[in-house]
Amino acid sequence: MQGGEDDVSYVNNSDRQALAITLSKPILISSLQTIKLFSTNSPIRITDLGCAAGSNTFTTVDTVVETLRRRYTAVYGGGSLPEIEAFFSDLPSNDFNLLFKLLTEKRRVDSPAKYFAGGVPGSFYDRLFPRGTIHVAVSLSALHWLSQYMQSDHDLENFLKCRKEEIVNGGVLFVLMGGRPSGSCSQFGDQGTRAKHPFTITMEQAWQDLLDEGLIDEETRDGFNIPAYMRSPEEVAAGIDRISGFKIEKMEYMKVVEHSDEKKEEWKKDPVSYGRARTNVVQAAIRPMVEAYLGPDLSDKLFKRYENRVSTNREFLHKTCFYGIVVFSAIRI
Ligand SMILES: C[S@@+](CC[C@H](N)C(=O)[O-])C[C@H]1O[C@@H](n2cnc3c(N)ncnc32)[C@H](O)[C@@H]1O
Repeated sequence: MQGGEDDVSYVNNSDRQALAITLSKPILISSLQTIKLFSTNSPIRITDLGCAAGSNTFTTVDTVVETLRRRYTAVYGGGSLPEIEAFFSDLPSNDFNLLFKLLTEKRRVDSPAKYFAGGVPGSFYDRLFPRGTIHVAVSLSALHWLSQYMQSDHDLENFLKCRKEEIVNGGVLFVLMGGRPSGSCSQFGDQGTRAKHPFTITMEQAWQDLLDEGLIDEETRDGFNIPAYMRSPEEVAAGIDRISGFKIEKMEYMKVVEHSDEKKEEWKKDPVSYGRARTNVVQAAIRPMVEAYLGPDLSDKLFKRYENRVSTNREFLHKTCFYGIVVFSAIRI
C-alpha cells in the first residue's frame, strides 16, 4: 500500500475497505459474544494482521476491545477488567511511522487509553508471536494478497498453520478478504465481480496504451502480475479443514458497493474528478508494485492513461460496481 498522507496514499483511499469492515462487524461481534471469557490473570492479546496505516487501522481493534470490555464488565463488574495489549502487524514496508503518529493523535481524544499498543513488522505467512499467546487475531482486506504470484493454497495454509500455533484455545480468528461467490470456478470468470469492475478491464487498456505508444514491449506488458487471489468460501473452508485446529463459526460471501448513489451523481457531472478519484484508489493499492516493475516515469504514464480511460468511460457511472469479500470467524479448538 502507498504510505504517507497525500492524495494517492492508502490513508486517503480506504473508504471501500471501511465499508467492508462495517458490513462484516456483526459477525465479529457475535463471535466475541459467544466465546468463553479468557482468564483475567494475564493480559488479553489482540492482533490486527495487515493493519496498514490509516483510519481503518484502529477500527476493528477498537471493536474487539469494546466488546470484550462490555462482556467482562457484565460478568465481573468494572473493577476487574483484564489489561489488553494490541499488536498492529504488517509488512516491514508499511508506514509504521504514520501508524504511531495516528495512534498518538487518537490517544489525545480517547484518553485514558484502553489498551497497550505495539507494532510487529513481518509477513503473516510466517510466525509473528510466541506459541499460545494471542486471544483474538483479525485480518482485514489483506489475505487476498499473496506472498508470490499464484501461491493461493500454499499461502492460506501457511497463514492458518502460524495462527494455529499462536492463538490460545478458545481464541478467535476473524478474517475479511477479497473473495468471490460460492460455486464460481475462477476469480476472473465471474460476471458479477469482473465484468462490472472498472479496475481490471480499464487497467488492461492502460497497459495496452503504453504498448501502442511504443513505450513498452509485449513482454513487459505480459510480465506484470498482481499477486492477489480472490478465494471462494469453499476454498477457504477447505484450507481450514486441511490445517485443522479451528472450528468455523460463520462464513459468508458479501458484496461491497463501490460508490454511493450521491457520489455517482456528483461524478456524472464531473467525470474528470471521477477518473482522478478512481486512479488514486488504484495507486494507493498497487503503485509501489508497479513502480518496482516499471520505474517511476513509466508508472506515472500508466496511471495517467488509466485516468484518461476512466474519465472518458461514463459507462461505469451508470452501473452499480461492487467487489466481493469472504468473511469468516473461527474458534481455535
Ligand atoms: C488493503 S490493505 C488493508 C489494510 C487494513 N486492514 C484495512 O482494512 O483498511 C492490505 C494490507 O495488507 C498488508 N499485507 C499484504 N501482504 C501481507 C503479508 N504477507 N503480511 C502482512 N501484511 C500484509 C499490506 O501491506 C496492506 O497494509
